[in-house]
Amino acid sequence: MLRKILTPNFIAEKTQKTEEQMENDIIFEPLRFRNLTVKNRIFRSSISGRWDNYDGSGTQARINWEEKFARGGVGAIITSFVPVAIRGRIMPNYATIDCDERIPFWRKVGEKVHEYDCKFILQLSHSGRQQDIAGIENSGKKALSSTSQTEPFHGFLCQAMTLTEIKETIQYFADGARRAREAGLDGVELHSANGYLFNQFLSSGINDRQDEYGGSLENRARFLLDVIRAIRKEVGNDFHLQFKISAVDYNNAVTFWEKPGNTIEDSIQVCKWAEEAGADGVHVSTGSLFPHPLNPIGDFNFDVITKTYDAMLSSGIETTRNYILFRKSFLHPIFNLLWNRVKKQLPPQAFSGDDVKDPKIKQLLIENQGRNLLDSREIKKHVNIPVLCTGGLQQASYIRQAINDQYCDGVTMARTLIANNYLVKSFREGKDLADKPCTYCNKCLLNVIENPLGCYEQDRFNSYEEMMEEVMSVFHPTQFANSSK
Ligand SMILES: Cc1cc2nc3c(=O)[nH]c(=O)nc-3n(C[C@H](O)[C@H](O)[C@H](O)COP(=O)(O)O)c2cc1C
Ligand code: SF4
Repeated sequence: MLRKILTPNFIAEKTQKTEEQMENDIIFEPLRFRNLTVKNRIFRSSISGRWDNYDGSGTQARINWEEKFARGGVGAIITSFVPVAIRGRIMPNYATIDCDERIPFWRKVGEKVHEYDCKFILQLSHSGRQQDIAGIENSGKKALSSTSQTEPFHGFLCQAMTLTEIKETIQYFADGARRAREAGLDGVELHSANGYLFNQFLSSGINDRQDEYGGSLENRARFLLDVIRAIRKEVGNDFHLQFKISAVDYNNAVTFWEKPGNTIEDSIQVCKWAEEAGADGVHVSTGSLFPHPLNPIGDFNFDVITKTYDAMLSSGIETTRNYILFRKSFLHPIFNLLWNRVKKQLPPQAFSGDDVKDPKIKQLLIENQGRNLLDSREIKKHVNIPVLCTGGLQQASYIRQAINDQYCDGVTMARTLIANNYLVKSFREGKDLADKPCTYCNKCLLNVIENPLGCYEQDRFNSYEEMMEEVMSVFHPTQFANSSK
């Protein structure tokens, strides 16, 4: 067998097969939505980092960041969380779309990404009560939500929106979509997952309203559907509009005394209504909290969080409790027990990708890759619009099978592309997995509260200096690189 593997004939045979496979590779077939065609099936999932100015105006670093992924070969980029109103910001230094003055900046980012034949979708967002660092403009104001119940993990305070505030917010989303269109972008995504404002309305675990926006599933879905209709009214039917949904809330995953929230059956119904209301695509995620043990799935790193969580200490009434939990190592097993509880309840993976030699990486892939695919397949069975799935995906053979076997029509990737910006290009060249895959350590995620976003898994680099060079590369070129001294 060994001799067969090493013969030149076998090598030629293998190379040819690879080329043939590449020809018919579903990963590189265009994905067609009603108003948008994307050149391949891999989207950069939305990733937020504190690149921008305090007031929500954008910077060159943001443009450099998005360019990295476009250059790496993804078919489309979904931006970061882009607030439609300052009141709906997660933290300062995120570029916003809350006024017309932001249009030129987003036009510039879109034009840069388009140079690589990559589409650019703006994620229209509102934090609701999940506001990590309120910032000075929101100082002294409670966050607006579907409920007045404090967010349980950090203890963020909030107040239930009045009907007038709901109507105003619907219009903020419509205005945001209009601005994205005026900026020449390719579409918008409603961030209706991961515990943010839409999710706070959708979830039976969070929404405790008594009016037409609470109670039955139909009432809880009304806010999302109103926004979809308002956007259609504002921008017409020919602008791409997709929405991200937490297929299952797992609202009691960490704080086990909370109600569990929406089931997959609830979400299937919401997706059907959203399609009827005018949505062109659905992006499947999980969890009514961010971060959540299942999203982004992987480790919870106490070393990082103890260095960065102090930025959030003043944000909620439970942050001090959490800080003590993170800081005192004898309490870590308790936190880990709570954090990992829900992962153990998941059904086993439906399939695996090509065999991986490194046993540690193989195990990481088995545990983390494609954890939302079963939900994504259930949603796909019931809608006619394309379905994108997020969560741990980074192996070509696995992604190929997910699409071929109708689990989804395309995938979105975040950390797995932060770790390997050129992954899509390397899939194109026949590689199944990066030489140094993302380890799902979540050090990038926990750093982002205070530090520039990037891959902080030092084992993937030759030295700390090399890692820093990569993290800081987003600041080059700078805005003033060509100015005279
Ligand atoms: C640092 C970081 C920031 C993120 N920011 C957003 C965001 O702004 N909006 C969003 O919908 N998801 C956000 N996510 C979730 C990702 O888009 C993605 O759905 C999730 O990480 C799973 O994909 P992955 O396993 O490829 O990372 C973020 C994830 C990370 C790690
Ligand atoms: S720090 Fe790097 S390896 Fe760890 S999850 Fe983030 S991108 Fe992946």
